[in-house]
Amino acid sequence: MQVTAGARGTALGRIGLTGPALDTFCEDVGASPDYVLDLFDRLIITIAAWKGGVGKTELAKELAWLLDGVLVDLDWDAGGATRAWGYRHETRTNAPLLDALERGRCPRPLSGKGVRADLIPSHPDFSVNQPASQDMAAALEKWSAELKRPLVIDTHPGGVPSTVGAASAAHVVVVPVNLETRALAATEQMANELQGGYPLLFVPNRVEAAPESEVSRLEKISTTYGIEVGPPVHSHAFLKRRKLSGAVCAPGKSGQIPASNARFVAEVKDVARAVLTHAVRNAIAQHQEEALS
Ligand SMILES: Nc1ncnc2c1ncn2[C@@H]1O[C@H](COP(=O)(O)OP(=O)(O)O)[C@@H](O)[C@H]1O
Ligand SMILES: [Mg+2]
Repeated sequence: MQVTAGARGTALGRIGLTGPALDTFCEDVGASPDYVLDLFDRLIITIAAWKGGVGKTELAKELAWLLDGVLVDLDWDAGGATRAWGYRHETRTNAPLLDALERGRCPRPLSGKGVRADLIPSHPDFSVNQPASQDMAAALEKWSAELKRPLVIDTHPGGVPSTVGAASAAHVVVVPVNLETRALAATEQMANELQGGYPLLFVPNRVEAAPESEVSRLEKISTTYGIEVGPPVHSHAFLKRRKLSGAVCAPGKSGQIPASNARFVAEVKDVARAVLTHAVRNAIAQHQEEALS
């Protein structure tokens, strides 16, 4: 196994894919280590759901940190990733996301200083200034090629143009699903609207006891639309009251994850490995399709 330098080495270490574990991972996904490492720098992962409050932002900021990637916040609402990260647009003279889109340039991510993901912050005016979906997708692909780091994109709920654009640029679209009646209805509508060409992966989130009828409803949506279900994240009460802007998965200078957070961290790492698995498989399938056409 070759040395995995830089960001990839950091990220793969964070999700436990080093040495023999990386070799096993590569064998399981049916790709060479070189292929996986090369894809790593180009990864585009979008977190999307047609409903708010299902855990998009919580998962996006943790996945972005775990993959040592750039968190791109395309949600303009105040309760989103940008503010949770500690960025306040009111105190700034520029608007990185809007400026970059307007000038056709790649924004420079703000450093999370190792305790939170680096960030391309959102802005309230993005709501009315968002590009058409194909322009959003093209911009993200260009930024990915320039930054040469994984992009993890948090989105506004529903099928708004920026969210659909981010979904179409992605190797994987992570869809947090709450096992509740209305959240499942929104999930089904999303699966129906985005069928064909969008690599969706369901991730049950805020799971309490597995309620039988909701689980079987998710299974039915999964089978009908051919969308796999990734590992679940349980409901962790500490998240709702958390005020810290650092990633939960980041141990910080003490090097310790508090015991109360350990289970959530282990679950999110499982999700990260599943996301990477799907990204590699989807990228291989896409190459094969392109080769045949
Ligand atoms: N697994 C979880 N367990 C408990 N609370 C969660 C979990 N995931 C998210 N939350 C909480 O639920 C609320 C909504 O989550 P958020 O990520 O902001 O959703 P969205 O971005 O989809 O609107 C937040 O208070 C968040 O901390
Ligand atoms: Mg959000």
